[in-house]
Amino acid sequence: MLIDVRDVTHGFDGGTPVLRDLTIRLEEPRIGVIGANGSGKSTFARMLNGLVVPEHGTVTLDGLDTARQGRQVRGRVGFCFTDPDAQIVMPTVAEDVGFSLRRRGLSKAEIADRVDSALAAHGLAGRGAHPAHLLSGGQKQLLALTAVLVTEPDLLVMDEPTTLLDIRNARRVADAVRDLPQQVVLVTHHLDLLTDFDRVLVFDNSRLVHDGSPSDSIAHYLDLMDHDR
Ligand SMILES: Nc1ncnc2c1ncn2[C@@H]1O[C@H](COP(=O)(O)OP(=O)(O)OP(=O)(O)O)[C@@H](O)[C@H]1O
Ligand SMILES: [Mg+2]
Repeated sequence: MLIDVRDVTHGFDGGTPVLRDLTIRLEEPRIGVIGANGSGKSTFARMLNGLVVPEHGTVTLDGLDTARQGRQVRGRVGFCFTDPDAQIVMPTVAEDVGFSLRRRGLSKAEIADRVDSALAAHGLAGRGAHPAHLLSGGQKQLLALTAVLVTEPDLLVMDEPTTLLDIRNARRVADAVRDLPQQVVLVTHHLDLLTDFDRVLVFDNSRLVHDGSPSDSIAHYLDLMDHDR
């Protein structure tokens, strides 16, 4: 999708802006977002599906305005949170993935089919009847990802999806993300996930301060962190 952010400044409840003067167009398949804690990354990510609507300026996705067409935007933009527990809503794995497909006019059999193939595609084959809350952290993250992907979004926004995971599970999620046909915006502190990305944005102090290749942007970020101490 073409992500078009124009003249965005945003503060929560009219408070001090946490994003300032942001104008950017993004259409690459793999976009990374890095920067210090509190620099505005999650606020930016949430703007991409209308979870946060900018106080000033506009955010459009393929021409859909998040402020006026939030529902259509959310129909095409999937969002994965850091904490999968925030996203898992149903008792069993299969029910949770099936829940994403409600209100689509699909038959029970069609839903079951789609759920089964989605689980198989993301390392959860045979776990449909498993209580969702008893999964390991990594399995929960895969479940949350599966429940988003089953809706076939055009763009997947992920806010630190590997932060709570051990290295093996983080790799599992990273591998799943690498193989996706979808466009991905990934906010992360795990810089090694971004090596193959097309473009990496660096936020600092509520502003976009660098926009470039993974190696350039990571170098810029590390430099910022060195000078901040
Ligand atoms: N819902 C909210 N209400 C009020 N302030 C908020 C809200 N969400 C974020 N903020 C503030 O906005 C600023 C930027 O937060 P944001 O979550 O975007 O940072 P971040 O770059 O994602 O940081 P981190 O790396 O710690 O996740 C912070 O000062 C935070 O306190
Ligand atoms: Mg954040």
